[in-house]
Amino acid sequence: MTTFAEESWGKRPDFIVHNPMPYNAEPPASVLASGEITAVDAFYSRNHGAFPDIAPAEWQLTVDGMVDQPLTLTYDRLTTDFTAHSVVATLACAGNRRAELLKVRPIPGKEPWAKGAISTAEWRGARLADVLDAAGVHHHDGLHVAFSAPDVAPESRPVQSYGSSIPLSKAMSEEVLLAWEMNGQPLPRAHGGPVRVVAPGYVGARSVKWITGIVVQEIPSQNYFQALDYRILPAEADPDTVAPGEGIALSSLPLNCDILVPDDGAEVPAGPLTIQGWAMAGDGHGVCRVDVSLDDGRTWRQADLHPAANRWTWRRWSLTVDAQPGPLSLTARAWDDTGVTHPESPASLWNPRGYGNNAWAHITASAT
Ligand code: MTE
Repeated sequence: MTTFAEESWGKRPDFIVHNPMPYNAEPPASVLASGEITAVDAFYSRNHGAFPDIAPAEWQLTVDGMVDQPLTLTYDRLTTDFTAHSVVATLACAGNRRAELLKVRPIPGKEPWAKGAISTAEWRGARLADVLDAAGVHHHDGLHVAFSAPDVAPESRPVQSYGSSIPLSKAMSEEVLLAWEMNGQPLPRAHGGPVRVVAPGYVGARSVKWITGIVVQEIPSQNYFQALDYRILPAEADPDTVAPGEGIALSSLPLNCDILVPDDGAEVPAGPLTIQGWAMAGDGHGVCRVDVSLDDGRTWRQADLHPAANRWTWRRWSLTVDAQPGPLSLTARAWDDTGVTHPESPASLWNPRGYGNNAWAHITASAT
């Protein structure tokens, strides 16, 4: 029998549950503003099937394909034979901020993720590169590293278990881990325990949980979630009839930012108001500036950028303004180290599955 405690997977009581099964839930935006590292009970949870229940003693990982010595690793071997490394990294779901795209046009059958499908943890595990080297990985240009997991996704066509891949060049980068710890505790089942991939700088979909298989191959994963879903389709495409491989596969995260405090629609006291949020640049780039506007983009002020642990995490920012009584319209945009900012409006990037919303952040509030 499933108890309530199991159904909430140890998450905070204020979690916004989009779907209890498969479990899809996010924290309120203001909870994410409380620190660089997100507590495990506040970390969003994005799933396409029921959670596998794998005891560490039973877990095994096979590594084969274009390698000289295929491997089968147990949990003991992974955690003792390979040097453990820690990486603070933000995971962001490609569907984060879909709620804003839903205001442009409907997106049937997809969760209305608000601002909370993004969180940051300190992950600890073996470098994927070390495991691939132990298997004698081939180093040809253009190879891919495909991950498979046992959780079956009822929405997939044909029904299959979850999988995806990353290019070998990314897989050999030192920040990519096979992680068994999250914020100093054994990786919780809801987040892929006993072992998951953490691919910092890439959409969360590539950080495969409950990983049990790795194949080095010449083509990207043909799994439903890479060949069909998690792709940016042309605005007029019909997601129910597109062929595998159509559209643009989501991989490295785009430059993005959001406002976490105040809440959209909040009533705040007039006077000093500290606006808080995050910004993140694409795969390994840095955020150089965050601008905030109180007049819909006519004039801008620069927010204070808080220090970030490394280039794989969000950069938190804040700005204290004098909120005049009446309606408030707050907009934020980020600039990266190549001098680029992101699109202004969700309407300009609406797509049929509602992925990759990196429009300027915008909320309204009122000061009394
Ligand atoms: N891995 C498996 N096996 N099954 C899944 O459904 N969801 C992916 C990814 N890895 C998923 C998965 C998606 S879409 C995201 S955004 C992240 O896991 C979410 O990780 P989290 O639930 O730990 O936040």
